[in-house]
Amino acid sequence: MKAVVFGLGGIGLNVIQGLKLAGADMIIGVDLNNDKAEWGRRFGMTHFVNPREIEGSIVAHIVNMTRTAFDQIGGADYSFDCTGNVEVMRDALECTHRGWGVSVVIGVAPAGAEIRTRPFQLVTGRVWKGTAFGGARGRTDVPRIVDWYMDGKIEIDPMITHRLSLEDINRGFELMRSGESIRSVVIY
Ligand SMILES: NC(=O)c1ccc[n+]([C@@H]2O[C@H](COP(=O)([O-])OP(=O)(O)OC[C@H]3O[C@@H](n4cnc5c(N)ncnc54)[C@H](O)[C@@H]3O)[C@@H](O)[C@H]2O)c1
Repeated sequence: MKAVVFGLGGIGLNVIQGLKLAGADMIIGVDLNNDKAEWGRRFGMTHFVNPREIEGSIVAHIVNMTRTAFDQIGGADYSFDCTGNVEVMRDALECTHRGWGVSVVIGVAPAGAEIRTRPFQLVTGRVWKGTAFGGARGRTDVPRIVDWYMDGKIEIDPMITHRLSLEDINRGFELMRSGESIRSVVIY
């Protein structure tokens, strides 16, 4: 299975963990911030792309990366938008494989924003879907996810990059904006 994750914040990194658990062979992480490459690798990303450092479009780049001798068409089996940027959502859909590619919108776009693509992208067999909280059913799935954490199957602790006092809460927002933190915990 080949997958692409756009945006390597706390959400994208957890998607990478999920992909690893699901047995993905190729996990491509895409981010504008090169510092996120190390984070991605830490959780199982196999390739990193900074869209600002490639020639041509990110869609063509990913299609090329996923092309093989047996599959001259190329495209990811799954892609995930973890940015909330509607242009990225479009790229995420269009870099999936025709016939069976599935692209999942996780990022929350600004109020009123709209997504677009050519209908051809869907009529050729791609699926565009979204998820809130991973589609988890709270009563049955959350205890299972907690067990995975307790058994060390998934890692959460390394994502807590900062611990702040309540007086420093504004620093927490700065850290989020600058991309320095993954998750900050406010202790009060
Ligand atoms: N659907 C849900 O259930 C759910 C739950 C929680 C959060 N979210 C949403 O998921 C998104 C990600 O959350 P987060 O906490 O990981 O945010 P974050 O800000 O920590 O991470 C976003 C990452 O995307 C990167 N990025 C931004 N623009 C990009 C672009 N054009 N191309 C490539 N990378 C780009 C940033 O550099 C950053 O590393 C947010 O929109 C958030 O609101 C959705």
